[in-house]
Amino acid sequence: MLAMRAMGSRPKISCPFTVPLYKRRMNARPIIIAVDGLAATGKGTIARRLAAHWDFAYLDTGALYRAVGVAVLQAGGDPTDAQAAQKAATALNPASVQALMEDPALRMPAASDAASKVAAIQGVRDALLKFQKDFAAHPPAGKKGAVLDGRDIGTVIAPDAMIKIFVEASPTIRAHRRFLELQGRGENVTEAAVLADMAERDARDASRATAPTKPTDDAIILDTSDLTADQAFEKAAQIVEDTLK
Ligand code: C5P
Repeated sequence: MLAMRAMGSRPKISCPFTVPLYKRRMNARPIIIAVDGLAATGKGTIARRLAAHWDFAYLDTGALYRAVGVAVLQAGGDPTDAQAAQKAATALNPASVQALMEDPALRMPAASDAASKVAAIQGVRDALLKFQKDFAAHPPAGKKGAVLDGRDIGTVIAPDAMIKIFVEASPTIRAHRRFLELQGRGENVTEAAVLADMAERDARDASRATAPTKPTDDAIILDTSDLTADQAFEKAAQIVEDTLK
C-alpha cells in the first residue's frame, strides 16, 4: 500500500452512493426515510434528492396541508375555522396532490400561512394520516423505499422509520433563503417581513398541541446553515449509508 502511494497511485475506493441499496435488501420491508424540520431548512431539497438517488418514492407532506389551506382560502373561509378546514381535508383527494405539488399557488406566502393554521387542527391531521401512513408502508409504483418530508414523519407518520433526519438551520439563514426563493418568483417581499412570517409560523408549528415539530431521540440532526445544497445532500446521503450499513 505504502509503495503504491509512493508511486503516486491511489487505492480504488468505490463510491458508497452508487450501490442501489434495494439490491442488497431484496425481500426487506420498504426502507422509510423520514426528513423533518422547519421551513426553509433545506429538507425538501434533501428529501427529493435522496429519493431520486435511491429511486425511492417521494412525498412532500407539506403540500397536503398547503392544499387544504388553499382550498379553505379559495372557498372564502378562515383557515383557523376547524369545521371548514376539516371539511376541506376530508374532501381532498391526497393522491391527486402529487400532481398539485408543482402548483405555484401552493408555494405562495398565503398558502404557507394557511397551511400552518389548518395543520394545528387535529381533525385535519386525522384526515390526512392514513394516506401518509399507507404511502410509507406501501410506496407507490413498487418502489423499494419511500422518503417523506414534513414535520411529524419521525414522530407520528412513521415512528419506526429506519432513518430519521431532522434538518435545522439558523432563522436568519432560513429567512434569507426563503426571501431569495420568493424574489425569484417575482414576489414583492422584504427580507424582514419573511423573517417575521417565518418566526410566527415556527412558533405555531413547534408549540401546537397536536404533532408539534420536534426531533425524536433517534433522529440525526443535520444543520445546513453553513452548507451548500450539494453538501447538505451529501451529508444526508452519508447518514443513510451509515444507518443501512
Ligand atoms: O413543509 P411546508 O413548509 O410545505 O409545510 C407547510 C405547513 O404544513 C407547515 O408550516 C406545517 O404547519 C404543516 N405541516 C405539518 N406537518 C407536516 C408537513 C407540514 O404540520 N408533516
